[in-house]
Amino acid sequence: MSTTSTPATSTFEIRRSDTPVPAAERAEAMAAPTFGTVFTDHMARVSWSLADGWHDRRVEKYGPLLLDPATAVLHYAQEIFEGLKAYRHADGSVWTFRPSANAARFARSAHRLALPELTEADFLGAITALVSTDVDWVPSGEETSLYLRPFMYGSERFLGVRPSLEAEFLVIASPVGPYFAHGVQPVSIWVAQDYHRVGAGGTGAAKCGGNYAASLLPQQEAYGHGCEQVCFLDAATNSVLEELGGMNVFLVHADGSVSTPELTGSILEGVTRSSVIRLLTDAGHEVSERRITLAELLGGLADGSVAEVFACGTAAVITPIGRLAGEGFDTTVADGAAGGVTMRVRAELTDIQYGRATDRHGWLHRLV
Ligand code: COI
Repeated sequence: MSTTSTPATSTFEIRRSDTPVPAAERAEAMAAPTFGTVFTDHMARVSWSLADGWHDRRVEKYGPLLLDPATAVLHYAQEIFEGLKAYRHADGSVWTFRPSANAARFARSAHRLALPELTEADFLGAITALVSTDVDWVPSGEETSLYLRPFMYGSERFLGVRPSLEAEFLVIASPVGPYFAHGVQPVSIWVAQDYHRVGAGGTGAAKCGGNYAASLLPQQEAYGHGCEQVCFLDAATNSVLEELGGMNVFLVHADGSVSTPELTGSILEGVTRSSVIRLLTDAGHEVSERRITLAELLGGLADGSVAEVFACGTAAVITPIGRLAGEGFDTTVADGAAGGVTMRVRAELTDIQYGRATDRHGWLHRLV
């Protein structure tokens, strides 16, 4: 049992929308939302300038941003983001999962992108204020949640190539069901061999939009091969597994051990990734973070020593991988169905998140 203290949270001024979505329309929009298409009435916002630091902490009406065409982010992509969820528990209370880990990663991403670092108190304050204001938008159906998207961008009107002297931090919220339209079914993965996500010394460990932009063309290539996601190899040798377009990857071996690519600086340090490592270790699995080559994975699938493969991330939770294809190979993972270890750790994680199981690591943080 770990002990936790309640982290400090900043106070936000609430400027309520005078045109909130009517209750019946909201209920309809929340009935079966496609991931990332429906947004709540408000957004949280904090502004920054070199002269004044972080200021004007507020929750305001959700709406378009007015950007000068010369705004820095539109030209040099000085932008970072996070993803976390608010879960409604059976008693109506609303919780989020390990938000301090997201706040810490956001600060690391800000540092790498030469953006101002936001304090944990501001990060948590923004989330708390937004979810409290839009609490009616937190769904209660199975596998549903309110997806929170904190982000920050360089907002100075300036075309010179140097860090922006102004920035905006916002949090928007979107009621969501499963990330994949078909729900928790095994997905197929295309291993990109002609494109890489990042290189050594690049921005791979930062959660910045540019990394995701770089993944879109290979992602399209994956669709062209009938696959739903793309898996990247390292740029130096084109042989070592890194991560999917927006998820970390795990292998479950026939002897019960589990492995996942080590954090090399070019892989995102996923909050779900570290939670899965903890839960699997608690359950007695030997979990190693190490170098895993594509050749090892394909060999293991061929001889049966790799029994399950799964992906994980905040949005997709834990998603079984049923097929792996790339130039010169196309293979199913075991019988192509979701594996037992995968589905057990998925159930364990979601039971904690939705308040159905004891939160023995102190991972939950109450919002409302
Ligand atoms: C998340 O899992 O929250 C992500 O950021 C992945 C993706 C939706 C970009």
